[in-house]
Amino acid sequence: MNNETQVFDPVLDHHADVPAMPRHVAIIMDGNGRWAARRGMPRLSGHEHGTDNIQRITTAAAELGVRYLTLWAFSTDNWRRPREEIDGILRILVEVINRELDELDRQGAQLRHIGSLEGLDPALQAAVLAAVERTRTNDRLILTLAFNYSGRQELLAAVKSLVASGISADDLTEDMLQAHLFTKDLPDPDLIVRTSGEHRISNFLLWQSAYSEFFFTPTLWPDFGPEELAEAVQEFGRRERRFGGVHGNRSPLPLVNR
Ligand code: IPE
Ligand code: IPE
Ligand code: MG
Repeated sequence: MNNETQVFDPVLDHHADVPAMPRHVAIIMDGNGRWAARRGMPRLSGHEHGTDNIQRITTAAAELGVRYLTLWAFSTDNWRRPREEIDGILRILVEVINRELDELDRQGAQLRHIGSLEGLDPALQAAVLAAVERTRTNDRLILTLAFNYSGRQELLAAVKSLVASGISADDLTEDMLQAHLFTKDLPDPDLIVRTSGEHRISNFLLWQSAYSEFFFTPTLWPDFGPEELAEAVQEFGRRERRFGGVHGNRSPLPLVNR
C-alpha cells in the first residue's frame, strides 16, 4: 500500500465543502455488440469502436482530475463466447495498446493490468508488460486495464495464496486478503460506471465494490463520451456515502484500503 492510499479517508473526503470527486472510477465497458448490431455491422466492429473510445475517456478522466481509472475490457467469463469473437477482441487489445502507448505515456498515464496473463497470446502478454514497464514512473493517472479478469477468480487466487502461505484461520484479517488481490496497490473504486443499460456487476470488482457508488447509463460503450463521464462524476458528488455509519458522521473508519 503506498502512502497516498494510507492517508486517503473516503468519509472525510466526502464531507469536505467542495463537491466530492471520485478518486477512483472503474468502468464496465459494455454494449459493443449491440452498438454494432444496431448498425448492421459485425460484433467485432463494435469492439473496434469501443476500444477506440478508451483513449478519449482516459483523456477526459485525467482532465476531470480522476487519479485512478480502471477499464474492464474482457472478463474470464467472456471465454464462453465464440472463438472468433474472443480472438478478435484480444487482437484488438494488442493493437490498441501498441497504438496508444506513446500518447498515454505523453499524458502521464501509468498503465497497469489486473487479471491473469497466463495462457494469453504471447503478443498480448508482451504488449502489456512493455506498456506497464514503459509507463512505470508516470503518475498523473493510474490507468488499470482489467482483462481476463473476474472478481471470483481474483478472490479464489487470493485465498489459495493465503492458504499456501500457511496462515492460520484465526490470524487472517481483511487487510491480508486485500493485500493478496490484484488491486492491492489501488484504492477501492469510489464510482463504478456501467454502460449499455445492464444493472449488474457481472463478476467485476466484487470485494472492492463494497461501498462503491454506481452510475448506470443506457448509452452503449462506443457512444459513452466525455460529457457523460462528467455527468457521472457530478452525480457522484451529490451522493452521500456513509460506509455503514450515520448521516454526518465524520469519524474515520477502519476501512480496508482507505
Ligand atoms: C462489452 O461489449 C465488451 C466485452 C464484454 C468484451 P459486449 O460485447 O458485451 O456487448 P453487448 O453486451 O453484447 O452489446
Ligand atoms: C461484462 O460485460 C464484461 C465486460 C464489459 C468486459 P458482459 O457483457 O460480459 O456481461 P453480461 O454477460 O451481460 O453479464
Ligand atoms: Mg455485454
